[in-house]
Amino acid sequence: MNLKKLLDANQDWAKNIVAGDPDFFHRLANQQTPEYLWIGCSDSRVPANQITGLAPGEIFVHRNVANIVQETDFNVLAVLQYAVDVLKVKHIIVCGHYGCGGVRAALENFRHGLIDNWLAGVRSLHRRHEAELSVLPVDEAVDRLCELNVISQALHVARTTIVEDAWERGQHIAVHSWIYRLDNGRIQPLAEAITKPCDLQNFA
Ligand code: CO
Repeated sequence: MNLKKLLDANQDWAKNIVAGDPDFFHRLANQQTPEYLWIGCSDSRVPANQITGLAPGEIFVHRNVANIVQETDFNVLAVLQYAVDVLKVKHIIVCGHYGCGGVRAALENFRHGLIDNWLAGVRSLHRRHEAELSVLPVDEAVDRLCELNVISQALHVARTTIVEDAWERGQHIAVHSWIYRLDNGRIQPLAEAITKPCDLQNFA
């Protein structure tokens, strides 16, 4: 693969944007005011901006394998705190995808390496839903666990001190659970947005 192709494409891309909006990059360089935080999977087939039709500056993005939100992960917490306290995003979107390799690995009964530790939370989610998942054909079980994982990670977002404190201050934040289908490019919301602490009771 030739990297020159990427650099040339970048030149063309920047040129095209300036042709349509000469001030675009100057404006963006001075400030970003995204309304959305995206927490998604690192999978190359799920690029946040492209699948939501958003331009640079419109969505703050964090991606990791299997879109996991762990309360002990300083990377996601730093992103979340900056997005909520400084950027003041109004929507936090946890978006998983069907056929997620990370979620599949959490279902499989063999070692994949270091990643098995990263996936510990998804593996325990699998154990909690063993009865429902074990009767499904494996691909359906993976997809169902992808859905359960999104809902579970959105709950983790809502239960961080960052989001709890923001709600307490009266800041409006909605936490969304979405899933993306690789074979048709469509996003489907999975649950009602969580907009306040009492909503959490519905998910217990
Ligand atoms: Co994935």
